[in-house]
Amino acid sequence: MKSLLFFLLSMTTAHADTLNLPSTFHFGVSTAAHQIEGNNIHSDWWEWENTPGKIKNGGTSLIATDSWNHVDEDIQNMLYLGVDTYRISIEWAKIEPKEGQFDEEMLDRYVAYIDLLKKNHIEPMVTLHHFTLPQWVSHKGGWEWDGIRTAFNHFVEHAVGRIGNRVTLWITINEPLSIISGGYISNIFPPAKNDLGSIGLPMANMIRAHADAYHTIHKLLDSATFKPRVGLAHHLRIFDPRRPKNPVGKYLAKEFDSVFNWAIPDALTTGKFAFKVPFLAKADYSIPEAVGTQDFFGLNYYSRDILDVNLRVSPPIERLVKKDSAVSDLNWEIYPEGMDRLLTEIRKRFPNMPIWLTENGIADKTDSQRAKFIEDHLKVISKQIATGAPIEGYCHWTLNDNFEWAEGYTAHFGLYSLEPKTLKRLPRPSAGFYKKIIQDTRSKPAVPQ
Ligand code: FCB
Repeated sequence: MKSLLFFLLSMTTAHADTLNLPSTFHFGVSTAAHQIEGNNIHSDWWEWENTPGKIKNGGTSLIATDSWNHVDEDIQNMLYLGVDTYRISIEWAKIEPKEGQFDEEMLDRYVAYIDLLKKNHIEPMVTLHHFTLPQWVSHKGGWEWDGIRTAFNHFVEHAVGRIGNRVTLWITINEPLSIISGGYISNIFPPAKNDLGSIGLPMANMIRAHADAYHTIHKLLDSATFKPRVGLAHHLRIFDPRRPKNPVGKYLAKEFDSVFNWAIPDALTTGKFAFKVPFLAKADYSIPEAVGTQDFFGLNYYSRDILDVNLRVSPPIERLVKKDSAVSDLNWEIYPEGMDRLLTEIRKRFPNMPIWLTENGIADKTDSQRAKFIEDHLKVISKQIATGAPIEGYCHWTLNDNFEWAEGYTAHFGLYSLEPKTLKRLPRPSAGFYKKIIQDTRSKPAVPQ
């Protein structure tokens, strides 16, 4: 009975025909090592999670999804979905748990995993930094430490040198915006600051570290027959004013958009990283080595913030959710139009640059909104492609429910839920929906050129 219901639910609403995505479009799922592997005990997040009160319901990532012991099951599920891309990250804190001491067995394990994915015709897209730092780096100041670019580059040289041309698509850093907003403004990530004035230096260091990693990857891997592509996964959001006619609110939304969404991507074109929020924050750095260090634009898109001034909080800015809007379990507004607005802006700022949706998903435990969420966002992508956007692929966040940072295990982003005792992966109906979309897209006749 349950399986019949599951079958019916998964089949009723798929409309790949109205999506009109090219049959060569890439579909994937995205993950991050710390959120799925467990046992990342040399990372700054491990220290953070073990500080009482930091993670909802006191969850820690000790077990996470126990992914190393569920490799076959996860690959079978990806084959069921029909995805051709799997975005993973490799853990700096596991590969270099102490400064200069590399754990070669750990690196071999990642290499074997990458080989296994490829054997199953699933292309790994590899992220080199997804929120977590080794403790030996965070103890020296993390992203504010002036040695971080050299330390990160050393790790990149070692790890990329070993993985080699098995991987074509590389992401250097995942979501500078989230690292900055969670770690330096809202105090929900390490290093737990609440100081808008402090964000310039860590942002500049991320750009420098990204630029070094970009050049290192190309230096190590470029050949006559192989060309890796390197980018960042940018978390971009829509910032709209609560009162559109109020000039202060309008100014605030514009500033947030330019500092948080565009200051870093633009620096990769101009080599200049500069912004000024009067009385609150500023930065002015020249980083010429960053020019041209983006082979594709990785976009992580989730939601929008409605902004207003509130002098009772520090910094005096309030992030709100639009009244009466549809929201996820985390109270994030569901706003596919925002993806459209951002893609239009990306195309304007970075003409002809290939684009990947490196993350998009929803916390939805009961799975009542996920299928529509996927469909509505894919519709946006389809519409953008119809007007010439070079969007190559979409990676859904995420395969399985996992350790969702400050939310612990309370946010359910998975196409699969986990059976609590065994951690067996259980498909949600939307897994069937995603599968159907992928199947229909692939089976469409090729469009004559
Ligand atoms: C993104 C993060 C990812 C996950 C999703 C829900 O901002 O990159 O690790 O937490 O949000």
